[in-house]
Amino acid sequence: MPSGPKRRRTAVLISGRGSNLQALIDAAAAPDYPAEIVLVLSNRPDARGLERAAVAGIPTSVVPHRDYETRAAFEAALTEVLSEAGAELVSLAGFMRVLTEAFVSRWQGRLVNIHPSLLPAFPGLDTHARALAAGVKLHGCSVHLVSTEVDEGPIIGQAAVPVLPGDDEAALAARVLEAEHRLYPLCLGLLAGDRVRVEGGTAVVEGGGDNAGRLLNPDPGSLR
Ligand code: GRF
Repeated sequence: MPSGPKRRRTAVLISGRGSNLQALIDAAAAPDYPAEIVLVLSNRPDARGLERAAVAGIPTSVVPHRDYETRAAFEAALTEVLSEAGAELVSLAGFMRVLTEAFVSRWQGRLVNIHPSLLPAFPGLDTHARALAAGVKLHGCSVHLVSTEVDEGPIIGQAAVPVLPGDDEAALAARVLEAEHRLYPLCLGLLAGDRVRVEGGTAVVEGGGDNAGRLLNPDPGSLR
């Protein structure tokens, strides 16, 4: 097989369903995608995403956080598994553990997360319920480099979706999830392809254009 451009060895960390993992697996199936998924690591043995990895023939590892007395010990175990796999990038995809400064610093610029809101709005949990309660007209998701504060760090990309009349939490979550599945492969590809640089604490995407494709809600065209 001819050797193409070097693909960045990427580990995906999960805790559950793994639908974003699946989107990344599907994207990485293309030989010219700049990241290769070399490991799927879960802190929960029952995470459904582990099956998805197995189906795709990707090695998996389980590091149960409950087996470790401290966060530091848990993260040392994560680091060992990641090093053994030769991971260059770490992608968090529904990984439900808060990471310490030591771990985050070690992976700075190479650790990426997806969060189901338009950050900096609604960091933390229950983002869809909180967006509905706040009455926002646009909601969405963000992919960002991880810094030591939860759900903070330079934003690589965002996808916005409308909040529609009659939406409940499930309907809004489903609309955002669809956007997540498009956004995460795009952003991981940009990072792996060395097209993201951080300037003054914010991420700049090389060739990212001027963001001229605007999304307005309410749509001025439909207002009278
Ligand atoms: C996603 O909504 C993601 O944004 C958040 O956790 C959820 C994980 O879903 N961090 P899945 O496991 O990828 O299906």
